[in-house]
Amino acid sequence: MLKRVVVLTIIGIIAVVGGFSTVGAEYYQGYQVCVPCHNGRTAPDLKGLFSSADELIRTAKSVKDPMMRNIQQNNELLKAAAKDLGLK
Ligand code: HEC
Repeated sequence: MLKRVVVLTIIGIIAVVGGFSTVGAEYYQGYQVCVPCHNGRTAPDLKGLFSSADELIRTAKSVKDPMMRNIQQNNELLKAAAKDLGLK
């Protein structure tokens, strides 16, 4: 269990750092940053869960799981992810 958390946290950090860097941005941006965790196993698949960008962002910010901590501080990423999910 602990090992899984560590591995997933590392994947998360890589995904988030990749999302910020200009080189990584080509590959990992918006919703793609969420997919490694939001795959329906570690965390729920976000497709179809929310009806507005506001709802998605508000819910994302209210999550207590530490894996979401970096994401919660990145408004631009959350907005981009909402846009990728077709939310306004
Ligand atoms: C490092 C892994 C990780 C990444 C990357 C990640 N999340 Fe999460 N997220 C989680 C975990 C773990 C939860 C809690 C799941 C649970 O409680 O069942 C969560 C929960 C959420 C929830 C609440 C879901 C619900 O229905 O309660 C939202 C919304 C969310 N994340 C949005 C995002 C968005 C948007 C991104 C990408 C910009 C993202 N997350 C990236 C791990 C991650």
